[in-house]
Amino acid sequence: MNTTIINQPNVETSRTVEQLVAGQATSDGAGVKLTRVLTQNLQHRLDPFLMLDAFGSDQPDDYIAGFPDHPHRGFETITYMIAGRMLHRDSAGHEGLLENGGVQWMTAGKGVIHSEIPQQEEGVMEGFQLWLNLSKRDKMNTPWYRDFKATDLPKFVTEEGVAVTVIAGESHGVGGAVTRDTTQPNYLDLHLPAGARFAQQLPAGHNAFVYVYRGEVRIGGKAVPAMRMAILANDAQADGVVIEASADARVLLVSGQPLKEPIVQYGPFVMNTQDEIYQALSDFRDGRLGETA
Ligand code: CO
Repeated sequence: MNTTIINQPNVETSRTVEQLVAGQATSDGAGVKLTRVLTQNLQHRLDPFLMLDAFGSDQPDDYIAGFPDHPHRGFETITYMIAGRMLHRDSAGHEGLLENGGVQWMTAGKGVIHSEIPQQEEGVMEGFQLWLNLSKRDKMNTPWYRDFKATDLPKFVTEEGVAVTVIAGESHGVGGAVTRDTTQPNYLDLHLPAGARFAQQLPAGHNAFVYVYRGEVRIGGKAVPAMRMAILANDAQADGVVIEASADARVLLVSGQPLKEPIVQYGPFVMNTQDEIYQALSDFRDGRLGETA
């Protein structure tokens, strides 16, 4: 679906950049090299988002072993594959091949054990995994899963030539592939030609950030270079954000409604209390975590 939208929504006052974050080089799974852009110390500031990992390499040793079987409980994982092929299998019986431009949305809920294994022995593997928290009420829900091929994702082009993929939420009247009532995530991938401007309305109470993965943009007069996350200030008078491309740029724009609940994380489990973490660990140890019944 490709629609040309004539009118940009009116954003009178853009949010400003509160902080630029470089992220931390790390590895996860069976030695996959990645940059953890949204780290644990930012979970309260960027509530309801818990983590953003960026991975990108043309060196197979950096990704080939993938992420063998591991559990999750209490949140959702959204994997956006820019380039590469990754096979997902989980204990709820879901299986899917994630390819160039595709998205996999998994709600771990009360528990999933899954693997994410590259299906390529050479070439570029690039993408992102975002973790979105579930409310206390939803943490023990039944697991849910969907794959979206690139062609299944809602897309449009603005009159300034900005190509927009609406992974979640809504932009310029175009609904995203997924919507969530409680956290109201908005997740856009924007390809901006040099000089173009993109405006997105955002409720002032929603936490929001931009991650630039190609080129450079300006937000509220501040330069945001490639490989940086800009945390957007919750300026009370701002009605959205205006992103201007200083060069051809590709960015993720992510926002959501904070849950304002306690966050207790132990590795792949994110709950509200320490006791719930102990419960997750014992359920996993006893083989109850990935049970489908
Ligand atoms: Co996982």
